[in-house]
Amino acid sequence: MKRGFFISFEGVDGSGKSTQIDRLRAFLEDRGFDVLLTREPGGTDIGEKIRRIILDPANSEMTYMTEAFLYAASRSQHVSEVIAPAVAEGKIVICDRFVDSSVAYQGYGRQLGECVGRINEYAVDGHMPDITFFMKVKPDVGSDRISGRKPDRIEMENAEFYRRVYEGYEALASRSPDRIIGIDASGSVEEIENMIRVHVKRLVER
Ligand code: TYD
Repeated sequence: MKRGFFISFEGVDGSGKSTQIDRLRAFLEDRGFDVLLTREPGGTDIGEKIRRIILDPANSEMTYMTEAFLYAASRSQHVSEVIAPAVAEGKIVICDRFVDSSVAYQGYGRQLGECVGRINEYAVDGHMPDITFFMKVKPDVGSDRISGRKPDRIEMENAEFYRRVYEGYEALASRSPDRIIGIDASGSVEEIENMIRVHVKRLVER
């Protein structure tokens, strides 16, 4: 059986990922592809339980290292239970956040540094996305967009944290230019959608 593809979406909170993910899914399904939509932290029963622990505002005593391990634990389960088997079956997996989130949020935002990448090598186990869309919305714009709802434990962080996260994504994008595509998300929803389609078409036609 032909191997499928693995696509991830990244960006700071409120960068418009979900809208684009839904549109890309519809676009691919209309063309007959078998699409599996998933997210991190979460994506499995165990992962969703871990997600609740991580994002619960009551867990204010959680150390940054514990947080990094929990995201990686959720990811490890996700890769072996869902992502790797689906790609092997020929599906197109679209994941809302993956390992780059850990490097950006825990590595840069929490300033844990390079150990985050190392921990995650075990979690990812070689199953890296074929392509990653980094939605380039500056953090202040993103936080305006989410200001209407109750913040989770990560979203309670300050502007300086989000600036570091954004810087982390930019560093990642320049380190992996073949995989990470920066999408200038200041355009209209349709313009952004079209940019994403161009890259995905190129990938699936390869
Ligand atoms: P979620 O509600 O999924 O955020 P969003 O809708 O913005 O994607 O919550 C996930 C939060 O967890 C988000 O603030 C980013 C953060 N996160 C990390 O800090 N590290 C990670 O490895 C992942 C996957 C997410």
